[in-house]
Amino acid sequence: MAGGTTEGAPPRAPKVLLGVAGGIAAYKACEILRLLRSAGADVIVVPTPNALKFIGAATFEALSGHPVATDVFTDVPHVAHVATGQQADLVVVAPATADLLARAAAGRADDLLAATLLVTRAPVLMAPAMHTEMWTHPATVENVQRLRQRGLTVLDPAVGRLTGADSGAGRLPEPDQIVALALLLLRRPDALPRDLVGRRLLVTAGGTREPLDPVRYLGNRSSGKQGFAVALVAAARGAQVTVVAANTALIGPPGATIVPVADARDLQARVTELVTDADAVVMAAAVADFRPKVIVASKIKKDNRSEPAALELVTNPDILAGLAADRAGPGSGPAQRPGMPVIVGFAAETGDEHGSVLDHGRAKLARKGCDLLVVNGVGDGRAFEVDDNAAVILAADGSDPIDVPLGPKTVLGAVICDELSRRLSTVDAAL
Ligand code: CTP
Repeated sequence: MAGGTTEGAPPRAPKVLLGVAGGIAAYKACEILRLLRSAGADVIVVPTPNALKFIGAATFEALSGHPVATDVFTDVPHVAHVATGQQADLVVVAPATADLLARAAAGRADDLLAATLLVTRAPVLMAPAMHTEMWTHPATVENVQRLRQRGLTVLDPAVGRLTGADSGAGRLPEPDQIVALALLLLRRPDALPRDLVGRRLLVTAGGTREPLDPVRYLGNRSSGKQGFAVALVAAARGAQVTVVAANTALIGPPGATIVPVADARDLQARVTELVTDADAVVMAAAVADFRPKVIVASKIKKDNRSEPAALELVTNPDILAGLAADRAGPGSGPAQRPGMPVIVGFAAETGDEHGSVLDHGRAKLARKGCDLLVVNGVGDGRAFEVDDNAAVILAADGSDPIDVPLGPKTVLGAVICDELSRRLSTVDAAL
């Protein structure tokens, strides 16, 4: 994370400047502030004067531990409007209203937040929130385009309930999604280029549940967090994302389509249907290898048995291997799109007497026929249901393995997006 160390001194907390513009979603800035602080950031809040009509300065001061100013004439001896922007490692603006986007695009400096945005050279992450008509107005569309061209990250707003009874595009993305992307930018300021615009990405996430009867199922511990992290980063980089989500309550990234599924065959059916439109597929879902041979229509009773009845299982289709085989098969996609879609698999491995985690990963890459395999070491509380992950990414084309050390799942998501972007450009160049 940005922040740095000087020898002997404890690492400096990264400085995040949280800009808050005047919209109803300003109340959610308090949650963003709290999450940033829990992640160890030192946060200075710079609201616009209108933001303070929604949330009092005292709330921001209490939660951040810093005084709050809105205009360039506060704390003149310290030239606060310059110093605040210069010292930030990251600027997050949430919510960014249509007016704030317009002022930032025009390079105005008519309040402390706008002035700070001109001064700062730190990465800027903007999370817009406004009414749909404002978001889709050509003026806002142009402003967002200009800001993105300048290298600022402007997220798409989520679709859903707006201020009143109306709903549509314009909701602030979820605070935890904004914070996940902010923490990613603190680690890697270059992690969110707009390099996936026009790319269609299909991600599977979560864990399948194979029903035994109406009440019980065979499942696994996948939370879906890694797949959703890939989706979040890819959407922020401009990709059109569809997530086939198996049994997870996670909220999809703004702009993404979520397709809920339950079991492996359900997941296979949806992936088979959606893959024809995808430039890349990331199979992060934990798919059950086996399912009960029979799904009993009514709840299985104990029936005073002292020994349980044996459970007969049958093998589920290998969806990933099937995708790779279809791509290679005669008469399918390759005729129109050689090398497409780019296919990424995941492998949760433990070392054993037959080999190390990486040995098993290499064998699985060859067996599955995908382009990249993200190999996680699991066990001892690693990978499942947690926010951090470490992995080695193996490539079928013989390129060097990429080691991704333990860090937020969005960091691994960004490395996967880097590789997808590179490979998709190579495929384009070959066409
Ligand atoms: N996968 C799949 N269909 C299955 C099983 C797995 O598409 N029936 C995909 C997963 O989404 C993942 C990759 O294959 O991307 C590897 O999953 P994993 O469970 O590690 O591999 P298995 O083939 O089940 O191998 P094993 O359990 O023997 O390690």
